[in-house]
Amino acid sequence: MANVSLTIDGIKIEVPDNYTVLEAARAAGVEIPSLCYLKGINEVGACRICMVEVEGYRNIQASCVLPVAEGMTVKTNTKSLREVRKSTLELILSNHNRECLTCSRNRKCELQSLAEELNVDEIPYDGEKTISTIDTKSDSIVRDNSKCILCGRCVSVCKDAQKIGILEFTNRGFKTEVAPAFKKSMADAPCIYCGQCIVSCPVAALREKEDIERVWDAIDDPNIHVVVQTAPAVRAA
Ligand code: SF4
Ligand code: FES
Repeated sequence: MANVSLTIDGIKIEVPDNYTVLEAARAAGVEIPSLCYLKGINEVGACRICMVEVEGYRNIQASCVLPVAEGMTVKTNTKSLREVRKSTLELILSNHNRECLTCSRNRKCELQSLAEELNVDEIPYDGEKTISTIDTKSDSIVRDNSKCILCGRCVSVCKDAQKIGILEFTNRGFKTEVAPAFKKSMADAPCIYCGQCIVSCPVAALREKEDIERVWDAIDDPNIHVVVQTAPAVRAA
């Protein structure tokens, strides 16, 4: 494997040629915000938060899927990049259930942290919201589509790391949802309850069953349809 030299925010660095610009930046101590990226697991360029400017390129680029190249000059923190990142995050949040105070991930949520970091204090794009599914049928995992940001991290970890592959994207466009095939409940899919999807989820779209009380709170929201509800399973002593 050869090395390549590039410059990131004025810092010259040499990295292996199989690095992405995001990896090179982190190796140089330059922090680029990211959301869908999960090293070695989910490198798909879905969220567009990690955009950078590269000299000679017409458009800004997603650094998590941009391979390094010899002599590249990259900027990661210009005013226009900060504005683009903020607008992208506002759009993601515009279709997100923002009941943060009663959310199990409050103060432990990557989306919330990023909103604070990028100074998002209002959402200028409030409009129609996706009709959401909350699947509470499984003994251990609640799947809450009202919080999902479609990053794909759970899909990749379930398929590529755990080799189970029960989670996938269903539907298209505004109706896109992450769910088991045919939008089955997690309880009716061959889930092994390893919990890796919960660990990889940056928000509370997949969470442990103990959070069930909060699901009941959401039932009054006309945008949220609780499609599967059962009482918690009774276990033999
Ligand atoms: Fe990402 Fe979580 Fe949605 Fe999966 S459930 S796509 S990890 S936000
Ligand atoms: Fe790069 Fe999501 S972190 S596109």
